[in-house]
Amino acid sequence: AFSPRIFSGIQPSGGLTLGNYLGALKRFAEKQDEGIETIYCLVDMHAITVWQDPAKLRQQTREGAAAFIASGVDPARSILFNQSQVSAHAELAWIFNCVARLGWMNRMTQFKDKAGKNAEAASLGLYAYPALMAADIMAYHATHVPVGEDQKQHLELTRDIAAKFNHDYGVEFFPIVEPLIEGAATRVMSLRDGTKKMSKSDPSDQSRINLTDDADAIAAKIRKAKTDPEPLPDTLDGLKDRPEARNLVNIYAALAGMTAAEVIAQNAGAQFGTFKPKLADLAVSVMSPITTEMNRLMQDPAEIDRILGAGADRAEAIARPILDQVYDITGM
Ligand code: ADP
Ligand code: NA
Repeated sequence: AFSPRIFSGIQPSGGLTLGNYLGALKRFAEKQDEGIETIYCLVDMHAITVWQDPAKLRQQTREGAAAFIASGVDPARSILFNQSQVSAHAELAWIFNCVARLGWMNRMTQFKDKAGKNAEAASLGLYAYPALMAADIMAYHATHVPVGEDQKQHLELTRDIAAKFNHDYGVEFFPIVEPLIEGAATRVMSLRDGTKKMSKSDPSDQSRINLTDDADAIAAKIRKAKTDPEPLPDTLDGLKDRPEARNLVNIYAALAGMTAAEVIAQNAGAQFGTFKPKLADLAVSVMSPITTEMNRLMQDPAEIDRILGAGADRAEAIARPILDQVYDITGM
């Protein structure tokens, strides 16, 4: 039996959004209160699967760390560090590259989305990304991973790799990880198109709320969010074919700590002319303190580096003995 341990990560590739906050950061902080060991990582080695300007990457890694802390991740209670500082990730990723099958990787839809039409020009790293993600998780024998729905397929792959390693070497060495995909905002959608996820890679800045947006920008984006002309329905069922309306209700629910059904019950029959300003006020009241705290933390980059360095030491202390055993099991 493996003792419960949570691992998750975020890429420091810039432009964190409300989707990253509600789908990941907020929940990372909540997990600290559940008496489970929590390990969180800025995954810079994932970020460079697409070329990153070195100075910007360094800056974005600190900004990502500030976002974690401003969202409530406490570096004293959680291990918070930067992936490239703990070499166990890269070492285990190579071994997992030799366990994972090409056929499995070929089925990864995120690679297809991110590589786009010219997949031949994508980096080998972008293709192998899910094996590195499996290594991130398994280097700590993590048992649970809180993520958004977009990561479900990658977590399935992590389970497959762990099971195949265990089978091929006749050991019960790696746990079979459970995804924690829960809450109202497992998939925050674009404010301009309710069928696309809110993402930093969307060309329209109006489609997303950035963690660095000020109160005016947040309110303006919500006011201009795409909706249909109908008022809010009496029951959740009435949102079935209304993805934009459903998204705003989900965002409200996640920000308020309510269920979508509770939001509908409170706002049945409301026009968007009424509901949007309410949502904007709520979003500003939740997000503004986070932005302010991020900006404050960014004034002292040396302190952020110190926190990440201390986190890396603690991460290394867990991962190194696991890697030692992996080398032993594999005959290396
Ligand atoms: P991105 O998908 O923006 O490139 P990452 O891959 O680093 O960012 O994802 C970081 C975390 O944020 C993951 O747990 C992912 O599931 C979550 N996440 C990203 N976008 C959204 C979204 N629109 N809604 C909910 N969760 C999201
Ligand atoms: Na993602």
